[in-house]
Amino acid sequence: MSAEVTQHAASAPSAADAPTPLLAVEHLRIYFPVSSSRLLARSAGHVHAVDDVTLTLSEGETLGVVGESGCGKSTLIRGIARLVPVSSGTVRFRGRDITTARRRDLAPVRREMQMVFQDPQASLNPRKRVIQILGTPLALHGVPRGQVKGKARELLARVGLDPEHLNRFPHEFSGGQRQRIGIARALAVDPRLILLDEPVSALDVSIQAQVINLLDELQDELGLSYVFVAHDLSVVRHVSDRIAVMYLGKVMELSPAQELYLKPIHPYTAALLGAIPIPDPKENRSRKRMVIGGEPPSPITPPVGCRFHTRCPLASEICSTQEPPLAEYASGHLAACHHPMNVTAQEIAAARPSGASPLSADSVMPKPEDAGAPPATHKDEN
Ligand SMILES: Nc1ncnc2c1ncn2[C@@H]1O[C@H](COP(=O)(O)OP(=O)(O)OP(=O)(O)O)[C@@H](O)[C@H]1O
Ligand code: SF4
Ligand SMILES: [Mg+2]
Repeated sequence: MSAEVTQHAASAPSAADAPTPLLAVEHLRIYFPVSSSRLLARSAGHVHAVDDVTLTLSEGETLGVVGESGCGKSTLIRGIARLVPVSSGTVRFRGRDITTARRRDLAPVRREMQMVFQDPQASLNPRKRVIQILGTPLALHGVPRGQVKGKARELLARVGLDPEHLNRFPHEFSGGQRQRIGIARALAVDPRLILLDEPVSALDVSIQAQVINLLDELQDELGLSYVFVAHDLSVVRHVSDRIAVMYLGKVMELSPAQELYLKPIHPYTAALLGAIPIPDPKENRSRKRMVIGGEPPSPITPPVGCRFHTRCPLASEICSTQEPPLAEYASGHLAACHHPMNVTAQEIAAARPSGASPLSADSVMPKPEDAGAPPATHKDEN
């Protein structure tokens, strides 16, 4: 089901054979200006919220996007939906460049590309009944007035809610039920892609699983594609075909989901995985853990070289001077690291530079002698 972000040159299908991805993001940058003085509006630089991200999404695929708070996950999907201005790069939907599309041209695309937000309480208008919340997008989608109520009932049933609760207000539902209403609202316009911004983070763990199962069922039933943003790798594990790990606006690793959990190549991913408890004590004991300390540096002046070098237990001299390119290993597994973990010398030798690499990255690929760098134990930096 997963699409490769880029292919090895030797195995790349010709452009004519390759199906057009549903979504293609190329070298996307989203910088926010920061002013030093509100009165003078003097520019003091930019927040590099999304800094040269390239990825694709196929029909029916789920791409998980994870990383610490502030790494640019929400900005990335807001940029895709054109809810924030794009600084450079392109966003293509069904092959069409929508990066600079005008509002009128964007309207049909926006219907096919819906968003579900983290906080269902905040994203639903508290003064509107469910029939109004669902009726507005249904009417926009061309459902005749006389059929709106029936369709709204169908939507409620589809997301596992009582169809007779159409006249209730959001506060009359639980958190999980409100998120189901948010999902029903997204479904009202028959989308192909749903951008999910931490859709379960505000919910209790038991409710999280129910909402994730619902999203899974809807995907099977309706052939939807998802970009699923989460803080935590454990949340996206079972729903994602592939997972992108972001740090300070950049993609550090992008891999088929199971492969990422079994064989993280980037030390940052290994550290994120190390933070997840494993129920099986035997597996837990045999696992190599990497723990990182401290906070990410400022996105206004991100570190040169590898952005992770100020916190990385494996950092060496090259890491603070040369930005590693995204290297493509077997199975379309991409990672940007000079000292890749869990790969053999042969796998490093066979790796190729990926077209998804940031334009600012150096061309120096990791060397076979860096194979299998053992994960260090806790680096207590700060
Ligand atoms: N409108 C804005 N103006 C200025 N800076 C912004 C704006 N929106 C986001 N940022 C900054 O961009 C960076 C990325 O923010 P973003 O919200 O995308 O991160 P995130 O990964 O979604 O974090 P979280 O997990 O906390 O939701 C942060 O440094 C944030 O402060
Ligand atoms: S390039 Fe260097 S600093 Fe960056 S993740 Fe790899 S080892 Fe760590
Ligand atoms: Mg966010």
